[in-house]
Amino acid sequence: MLTAWDYLWARLLDAAGVDVVLVGDSLGMVALGYPTTLPVTLEQMAHHARAVRRGVSASLVVCDLPFLSYHESPEQALRSAGQLVKEAQVQAVKMEGASPVVRAATRRLVEAGIPVLGHVGLLPQQVHQLGGLRQQGKTPEGAAAILADAIALAEAGAFALILEHIPGELAAEITAKLAIPTIGIGAGPHCDGQVLVTADLLGLSPQAPPFAPVYADLGSQAVSALQRYCEDVRSRRYPAP
Ligand code: KIV
Repeated sequence: MLTAWDYLWARLLDAAGVDVVLVGDSLGMVALGYPTTLPVTLEQMAHHARAVRRGVSASLVVCDLPFLSYHESPEQALRSAGQLVKEAQVQAVKMEGASPVVRAATRRLVEAGIPVLGHVGLLPQQVHQLGGLRQQGKTPEGAAAILADAIALAEAGAFALILEHIPGELAAEITAKLAIPTIGIGAGPHCDGQVLVTADLLGLSPQAPPFAPVYADLGSQAVSALQRYCEDVRSRRYPAP
C-alpha cells in the first residue's frame, strides 16, 4: 500500500502494481503544505480522491476520513463516507483510533456496505493530545491498550488494520492474534503488508519520519533538472534555433 494525492501519482502507483492506493489525509502535509493533517476537510479529501480514482485502473482505492468528519456520531461517519464512495467512487474508507464512536461508526459503515480500514498506534489526527508524532505502545499499559483497540476494531468489522509507529514485537503480537490483515508503517517486519507515504519513499518530503526508507531522491533530481532549464532559458540555449 502507498499513498497518492492526485491523478499523476495515482497513475504511477497503479503502473507499479501497488495493491492498495491510499488517499491519506497526509496529503494535507505533503501536497497542501499544512503543518499537520488537522486542517484537511472532507471536501478536499473528495476532490483529491476523485483525481486519484481517475488515475487508477487496477488497485483498490481507500480514502481517509479527515479529522472531525466522523467523531460526532455513526450517522455523521456514514454521511462522510457515503460522500466519498458516491462522489469519488473510492472502495473503502479509513478512520483513526478505536474510541467508542469510531467502533460504532465502523459497525454502521460495514452494515451499510462500506468497507472500513482501521488505524491504531500513532494517530496523526491526535497529534496535540499525544504531544507530537512519537512512537506509541512502548509501555506495557500502552501496548495492552493498542492490542485491545486492534481487537475491538476487528470485532467491529474492519477488513484490515494499519499499525503505525509501534514496536515490532507489539505489531507481531497483534498480527498473530487477528484474523484480518495488518499493514505496518514504522511497525517492523511482522505485519501482513506495509504502507508508506509516497513522498517520503521518493525523497519529496521536507520532513520524512525516521522509519521511512528513501528509495529514490526525486526531490534533488527535480531541483537540478529545473535549475538546468532556468539556466538554458536565461542563456538562450533553450529553445534551440
Ligand atoms: O494519511 C496517511 O497517509 C496515512 C498513512 C500514513 C497510513 O494514514
